Amino acid sequence: MEVDGKHYRTIWVKEDDKTTVQVIDQSKLPHLFEIIDLHRIDDFIQVIKEMNIRGAGLIGAAAGYGMYIAALNAPEREFDSYINECAERLIRTRPTAKNLEWAVNRQLKAIFGEPSASRTEKIQKALLTASSIADEDVESCKMIGEHGVSLIEELSRKKGAKPVNILTHCNAGWLAFVDYGSATAPIYAAHKRGIEVHVWVDETRPRNQGASLTAWELGKQGVPHHLIADNTGGHLMQHSLVDIVIVGSDRTGANGDVANKIGTYLKALAAKDNGIPFYVALPSSSFDWKISDGIGQIPIEERDAREVKYVKGLVDGKIKEVLICPEETDAVNYGFDVTPARLVTGLITERGICRPEREDILRLFPEKR
Ligand code: MRU
Repeated sequence: MEVDGKHYRTIWVKEDDKTTVQVIDQSKLPHLFEIIDLHRIDDFIQVIKEMNIRGAGLIGAAAGYGMYIAALNAPEREFDSYINECAERLIRTRPTAKNLEWAVNRQLKAIFGEPSASRTEKIQKALLTASSIADEDVESCKMIGEHGVSLIEELSRKKGAKPVNILTHCNAGWLAFVDYGSATAPIYAAHKRGIEVHVWVDETRPRNQGASLTAWELGKQGVPHHLIADNTGGHLMQHSLVDIVIVGSDRTGANGDVANKIGTYLKALAAKDNGIPFYVALPSSSFDWKISDGIGQIPIEERDAREVKYVKGLVDGKIKEVLICPEETDAVNYGFDVTPARLVTGLITERGICRPEREDILRLFPEKR
């Protein structure tokens, strides 16, 4: 997407230096736009854990590039064990998003697929695979936009001259992927076609990805929006101020249960109560085909309580953290929740829109039968 007239992806190999991968530092947004250089596997582990980069698709792509950098730096005589160790370390960084594990496993197959391949060939294969993972993410998100825009178009036709009000949670935008985003792709496609849209952006405590990232990227693309406190959605829905909810997914069960940023479930409940369509946009790399009960089976990341107790923002021109509760207060910090399929109207994927149920998902992905 465009940042001040220049096109960016969220991750790329540095021009003229194939040993360096570059990413946008999301921990500084919206206040500073900075690029971080990644040279070693430890750099990848650090930026994923500390959430300088985040979002299911992007951490999947970063895991792909991380495995390439691991292959590049692997010691000659311990190549295989080093690669396996890096794979395990990457998978452990963030447990909920399926894309990360999916990308690492795809790289393991690519690197070890041909046992007779030379070290140089393995490194080359890892680079090609990392680029394919990133390119496919872009293509999938673009297609999600093409399919999802039909839902917005339909609502716009019904509403006549009034803008379509879309509520979204967290950041399933281009920053969470390599480009376009999942939940935002239909919104960007609609905006590009001249359909009037307006987005309600949940702030998304505790890390405020809605406030700091979604609001920033929608602003950069010129999409009208308002930031709202997390608890506002239900009220807006009761007053017919939301036409559709579109969110992303970090892991989607084969039965249509969806794990997404904490608080998504409450939005789905409110949408159901108010008869508002609730769609989840996801590339197929987010599916976990082994999951038949999301609540029981999807691992939910617990993060540092500090993220709940402190809020980060701009103070006197500097990015600072401020304590918002008594210092001695204990807090807990669940990163995600699971929205059961019964609350989801449909899944928007790169192959089309389906109902959140096994048979209809498999209609789009018959090779997973
Ligand atoms: O913890 P994060 O910021 O990595 O969370 C991931 C997300 O951005 C959301 O859950 C999102 O809605 C789905 S991932 C594209």
